[in-house]
Amino acid sequence: MLFAVVLAGGIGKRMGNVDKPKQFLLIGGKPIIVHTIEKFYINDCFEKVIVPCPEEWVSYTEDLLARDLKETSRIAVIKGGSDRNGSIVNALNYIRDNYGIDDDTAVVTHDAVRPFVTQRIIDENVKAAEAGMACDTVIPATDTIVQSQGGEFITSIPNRAEYYHGQTPQSFPAAKFLKLYDSLTADEKSILTDAAKVFVMKGEPVAMIKGEEFNIKVTYKYDLTRAEIMLKGGKNA
Ligand code: CTP
Repeated sequence: MLFAVVLAGGIGKRMGNVDKPKQFLLIGGKPIIVHTIEKFYINDCFEKVIVPCPEEWVSYTEDLLARDLKETSRIAVIKGGSDRNGSIVNALNYIRDNYGIDDDTAVVTHDAVRPFVTQRIIDENVKAAEAGMACDTVIPATDTIVQSQGGEFITSIPNRAEYYHGQTPQSFPAAKFLKLYDSLTADEKSILTDAAKVFVMKGEPVAMIKGEEFNIKVTYKYDLTRAEIMLKGGKNA
């Protein structure tokens, strides 16, 4: 069984002084989170689209989706975790409680704030997940990557051809993620920013899916402007 997890448990600190978490801000007159959920909802290979949100925003999100979508029976809004992987764990617990988890249970996880994801990217993630693989959506690095330990001087400049930017979706078998995540120490968990790293840290293969330059994550105020311009230019959020 396959599930989509649209991660919306963050509060968007880097967006600065706005009255609501960035996933609820509008682009093209519609909340970013609605644009993103629509991309997954129209793909009927998902049993359910699970949406972890900050606890105090759960009923707001339910109301928003009831207002903006024709139909919401395959969507479950749940309480998010204290960090991104915590939100994934909550979604997996929801799956376990309501459907059970076996070796064929897999999830396609995606940032609620990446509304420009395409059906091609989703389908390629689905294919890998259905084959029992973990995968991550990436694009080749375009800027040279500079490493610095300490932040004052350059320590090294790695070969750019070997570097990529991680986007989302990231997809994987549910049982395997839970097993690996449970085996991490609190220190290891605290340095994780995404799910693919759980697999990489434990020496598990993670396939790369080709992302898109325009599959941007809305992080800063300027990204809202970029997203509006992309919509006006015909990109489908
Ligand atoms: N996320 C989540 N649960 C958390 C933290 C983040 O589901 N506890 C989600 C965010 O809602 C977002 C995605 O993970 O859709 C990517 O994270 P990021 O852009 O870092 O979002 P925020 O944590 O909201 O942003 P910031 O770091 O600026 O506070």
